[in-house]
Amino acid sequence: MRHFLTLKDFTKDEILEIIDIGLEIKNNLKNKIYKKELDMQTLGMIFEKSSTRTRVSFETGMFQLGGHALFLSNRDIHLGRGEPIKDTARVISSMCNMVMIRTYEHSMIEEFALNSSVPVINGLTDSFHPVQLLADYMTLVEHNAEQNIVAAYVGDGNNMAHSWMILAAKLGFELRIATPKGYEVDADILKEALILAKESGAKIITTHNPKIAVKNATVVTTDTWTSMGQEDEKQERIKIFQGFMVDESMMCLASKDAKFLHCLPAYRGLEVSEEIFDKHSNIIFNEAQNRLHAQKGLMVWLDKHK
Ligand code: CP
Ligand code: NVA
Repeated sequence: MRHFLTLKDFTKDEILEIIDIGLEIKNNLKNKIYKKELDMQTLGMIFEKSSTRTRVSFETGMFQLGGHALFLSNRDIHLGRGEPIKDTARVISSMCNMVMIRTYEHSMIEEFALNSSVPVINGLTDSFHPVQLLADYMTLVEHNAEQNIVAAYVGDGNNMAHSWMILAAKLGFELRIATPKGYEVDADILKEALILAKESGAKIITTHNPKIAVKNATVVTTDTWTSMGQEDEKQERIKIFQGFMVDESMMCLASKDAKFLHCLPAYRGLEVSEEIFDKHSNIIFNEAQNRLHAQKGLMVWLDKHK
C-alpha cells in the first residue's frame, strides 16, 4: 500500500503513470465513458483549512469513479477537540478506503499515515501541495509544454515552491526560485531536492532576483504571498514582496510562448497583475479543472497498489 504525502516517494515513471491515467479518464469523460473504478469505495476528506478546488475536485472525482466522499471538517469531528491523530486514523481508515487530509504541520499527515490502514493523500500541508503539481504537470502536457522545461517560481518560499522543487528534481528539469530575503524555501527541503536533482539531472537554483529566475523561462508560476495560517502577516508581506509581482515587464523576459500557471486562489494586483492573469486565464482555469482529472488518476493508481 502506498500513501501520497509528497512527490519524494514517487519515481518519475510513477508520476507520469498517474498523469497518464488521469488523462485517459479525462478523455473518457469527454466521450461520456464512465468507468466505475472505485465502485462502492469511500474517501474520507479531513479539512483543517479552507478549500474550493481540493474539496470540489476530490468529491466530484470520487463520485464519478463510482464512490463517495465524506467532507470532515475539523470543527465537526473529534480531531478538532483533541482526539489523538492515531485513534482518528485507525477509526476512519477502518471504514473508508482512502483518506485525504488538508492540514497545517506536515508531521500531522505523516502520523496519520503511520496509523492508517488505507492510502492517505496530502491535500496540502504547510510544507507541500503535491496533488496540485500533478494537475500543473498534466496541464503542461496538454499544452505541449513539457519538453525542455525551464520553470521559474516567483514569490514566497512556501508549500507550492517546495512541491515545484520536488517535481523538478524527480522529472529532471530546470527550476529557478526567486523569493525575497527572509522568505526563502526551507533549507532542509532544498537540500533533499538537490540530492534528488543530482540523480535526475535537474537544475535547481534559488535567487532573490525574480528577473534572473524568469529570463528565458518556458514556464512561469507564482502563488499567494500570504498562505493559509499567515493572515496576520499579510500587510507586512505585501510591503516586503514589492517587485515580485508577475506582470508584463517580468513576463516579457521569459521565452516567447512561456506558459503562466497559478494554483489559485489568485490575488490580482499582488503576486500577479490583472493583465497577466487575464492573458493566461485559459491555461490557469484548465490547470484548476485538471485537479479533478489528475486526482482521479491518483486515486485509481493508489487503489491498484493496495
Ligand atoms: N489550489 C488549491 O488547492 O485550491 P483550494 O485551496 O481552493 O483547494
Ligand atoms: N500556498 C497556498 C496555496 C493555496 C492553494 C496556501 O497554503 O494557502
